[in-house]
Amino acid sequence: MSAQTRPRRLSVTQIQGRKGGDKLVCLTAYTASVARLLDPEVDLLLVGDSLAMTVYGFDSTLPIGLDTMIAHGAAVVRSTEHALIVVDLPFGSYQASPADAFRAAARVLAETGCAAVKLEGGEEMAETVAFLVGRGVPVMGHVGLTPQSVNTLGGYRSRGHMPGEHDKILRDGIAIAEAGAFSLVIEGVAESLARELTGAITVPTIGIGGSPSCDGQILVIDDMLGLFAEFTPKFVKRYRQLGDEIRAAAREYAEEVKEGRFPAPEHTYSAPRRAKNAAAK
Ligand code: KIV
Repeated sequence: MSAQTRPRRLSVTQIQGRKGGDKLVCLTAYTASVARLLDPEVDLLLVGDSLAMTVYGFDSTLPIGLDTMIAHGAAVVRSTEHALIVVDLPFGSYQASPADAFRAAARVLAETGCAAVKLEGGEEMAETVAFLVGRGVPVMGHVGLTPQSVNTLGGYRSRGHMPGEHDKILRDGIAIAEAGAFSLVIEGVAESLARELTGAITVPTIGIGGSPSCDGQILVIDDMLGLFAEFTPKFVKRYRQLGDEIRAAAREYAEEVKEGRFPAPEHTYSAPRRAKNAAAK
């Protein structure tokens, strides 16, 4: 493929430039096979720490470590060529200090080839965001319902309905944008708050349980495909029920194996014909 026809990957600055323009289409992806399918349809793929729940079966995002995020991030980068790839910094890798955050983020960028990292938190993380951005690490922020704080938030309920909480989340989003984040995920908040925050900052907002006014939307891929049924937040729309399809396929396979109908002749190798010379010897 010539350099001219090769599809160019979207850059952080192109995503940032979409503020108020064409809506940003974003999904999570964790594996090469799924990332390859999603890549032509989206602007941005997030290797989210939600993989702790969807891929690894934990009941929160907290147990996943940096090495695991890097392994999945590298797989998604290798199998895509169009979407901007962002990898989540996992719990414990960045909260203690800006220097810790830089070490974790530098490993993620260097070892996966992704373009940016995402971290959760508001005003208290603004210094870290500025530290990273000032040292060459593009950062996507994440405010509102921040799953890594499930233990201090007291669960996964939507946020920003009371005046105090509303004002705090607004300040959080503004602080992260002013610190230099190139975009901001707003998760699980009152629709009016997501709309107000989108109007208050100059970088694109990506809603998940936010508002149609956000500059883009993101969903967890397993949720939107009906693969993860343990817990379905109100903001999830199931575009397909692949869980049912997978169960039906496994049932059909099991029946065919038990009845000796699989493998059929077309799925088996016949013995190779012996060459004439070899036969003559
Ligand atoms: O980990 C994740 O999948 C996320 C999205 C919900 C935005 O952070």
